[in-house]
Amino acid sequence: MDFHRFARWFRDSSPYIREHRDKVFVVLMPAASLQQGLLGKIVRDLALLHVLGIKQVLIVETTSGERRRCITTVKELFARGLPSSRYRNQAISVVEETFDSAPPIHHGNEPRDANAHRRKQADHIVQTLDHGSIALIAPTVGHSMSTNSHEETVNNVATAVALSISANKMIVLHEPASLVGDPDIVNSDLSTDAFQAILEQETLEKSTMHRMHALLQACRQGINRGHIVSYETEGALLAELFTADGSGTQISTDDYLTIRRATDIDTDVILDLMKMDIEQDRLVPRSREKLRDDSTTVFLAEHDNIPVGCVALYSLEDGMQEIGTLLAAPVHRDRNIGSRLLSRAEAEARKRGASHVFVFTRHAVDWFERHDYLTSRLDSLPSANRATYDHERQSTLLIKELE
Ligand SMILES: CC(C)(COP(=O)(O)OP(=O)(O)OC[C@H]1O[C@@H](n2cnc3c(N)ncnc32)[C@H](O)[C@@H]1OP(=O)(O)O)[C@@H](O)C(=O)NCCC(=O)NCCS
Repeated sequence: MDFHRFARWFRDSSPYIREHRDKVFVVLMPAASLQQGLLGKIVRDLALLHVLGIKQVLIVETTSGERRRCITTVKELFARGLPSSRYRNQAISVVEETFDSAPPIHHGNEPRDANAHRRKQADHIVQTLDHGSIALIAPTVGHSMSTNSHEETVNNVATAVALSISANKMIVLHEPASLVGDPDIVNSDLSTDAFQAILEQETLEKSTMHRMHALLQACRQGINRGHIVSYETEGALLAELFTADGSGTQISTDDYLTIRRATDIDTDVILDLMKMDIEQDRLVPRSREKLRDDSTTVFLAEHDNIPVGCVALYSLEDGMQEIGTLLAAPVHRDRNIGSRLLSRAEAEARKRGASHVFVFTRHAVDWFERHDYLTSRLDSLPSANRATYDHERQSTLLIKELE
């Protein structure tokens, strides 16, 4: 076994495992994903999510003739636990729930207390999840009073459930996981606006369109993350949820990159982020004390609460403000994170009244030049700043005049 690769993979995935724990995911499973041969593999991955502490509501699309058989099959598959693991004999309980996407019909009467009825159903689902079970809903057309097709009813139920229980994610299993033929769109993060723009092109076939509109509606109304994940590609769901690159299409309702001022608690995370670039001689090592020093301000970039980059502003009383320890985690490079961190550090320097900032770098000279930094001679720095220059390292000095 390649321990190094395994450890690297595990370290990269562990923040996602922590992030998803105790979160609620609504998974929409269209009829095509329930085929024999596929369902077993999908359930195996869903069972793993369950063992990792993710609460799930499965919305399955099945005809009324197949409904009972389908529910039994899903329950039986989960009852096997996680085959080939120590969880193999630990049955995962699946509880059948109902949810009306529209008010139930009362034989010609107006729907009574429809909202209260749905609230009760939602509370029941939440209880089921809190008791450690997976909730399963196989809507029938009778679950809706409208004239929708069965497929639309299922999509609407998925959206309505996700919103009613304030789910953290809605996942649509769909083939392919891309909405357009353009390979750049697969494996990507789309904003809700970009997602809507694709739907408005009306190039998708009708049933895909309905399903995607249901997902869009959920994202527009408060579900922060939507995912379109292939049901055919083995492991696609795990790759989507536990790797930085994902495997399908993610729809984000907010700007999922946040940059905040780091505190002492973040020091280990920052040292960890820096490790590889220090080993590759791209960054100068900085001590824990230096990172925590009053004269240092570190900003941390996080993607979905996962640390993905940092930058530090080192100030000297009589000197200029130095920008350093700037990095974007390798799998997150070329996504503008470095540029945004740099702007944040520059804004902070400006706020402190600095007219210039400088940086020492060996490998990113061109990158800084693209951000209006000019290669400069060491003697253009105040002597206080020059004192820390490592002559052996032969870094290039770049200075930027702040407007
Ligand atoms: C330098 C660094 C912070 C850039 O971050 P990033 O988030 O990947 O950069 P951005 O997405 O903002 O910019 C990407 C662009 O810069 C280019 N680029 C990235 N690194 C570059 C480098 N070292 N030299 C020149 N150009 C570079 C990319 O090719 C891309 O170009 P494009 O827009 O034409 O496609 C990142 O590469 C990094 O962490 N490097 C290792 C640590 C380091 O050298 N830090 C600087 C010393 S303090």
